Amino acid sequence: MAAPRARREALVLGNWKMNGDAASAEALLAGVQAGARDLPGVAGVCPPYPYLALAAARLAGSGVAWGAQDVSAFEDGAYTGEVSARMLVDLGCTWTLVGHSERRTLFGDTDAEVVRKTTRALAAGLVPVVCVGETLAEREAGATEAVLARQIDAVCPVLRDAGERCVLAYEPVWAIGTGLTASPAQAQAAHAFIRARLASGGVVAAPGLRLLYGGSVKPSNAVELFGQPDVDGGLIGGASLVAADFLSICRAAAGRS
Ligand code: 13P
Repeated sequence: MAAPRARREALVLGNWKMNGDAASAEALLAGVQAGARDLPGVAGVCPPYPYLALAAARLAGSGVAWGAQDVSAFEDGAYTGEVSARMLVDLGCTWTLVGHSERRTLFGDTDAEVVRKTTRALAAGLVPVVCVGETLAEREAGATEAVLARQIDAVCPVLRDAGERCVLAYEPVWAIGTGLTASPAQAQAAHAFIRARLASGGVVAAPGLRLLYGGSVKPSNAVELFGQPDVDGGLIGGASLVAADFLSICRAAAGRS
């Protein structure tokens, strides 16, 4: 499905995961804020929950958005340890990641739970960044498209009414934190498949949705990855912890052709 690139603005989100402390968060926010002045709307950060208020204080009005790494599937109530979508809105979050592979594999998030979290995020006014991707075993078994189809089909019903207020992230599990990156052709093939699957699942906004690639994105490979027609930006782990690297990746996305 070739959709005109111009409709989709570049987006690069930094997923800090569970790294750092208040001092390093403060330094990283300052670095990103200072360096992203010429990149309005391109960069976003997803710090750990305890630093979201710090992100709000440091990034307000900067053109850099912030969001969470996860959200509760529940609305409110006796759910010890959970953080609701409404709380994230109170903290000024634009985004929340949903269904990151680390949540799926380490914490048991199922497709059904990803749907519930996506529903909560949308109901509260957050933009869900729904993460999908196959493991190495699944890729080697030739099951990449089947896995992506299962993950995408699950969320299509809740994304149908979201218009362009959602983002998808393709993160092959075998490329996360491993130094292995999907080749630009592999990323493009997966992104094109995801976009087409969304469309066939009734998500009419699919041509305008931003699809981010994640998995060992670095300044050295970002230009080529973001040059692919269906790769609209990135979801960055390790490299987002170094402001200069993250900004360099943001510039690669902003300048993509
Ligand atoms: P790395 O960039 O460290 O591979 O992590 C990718 C990721 O999981 C982002 O959500």
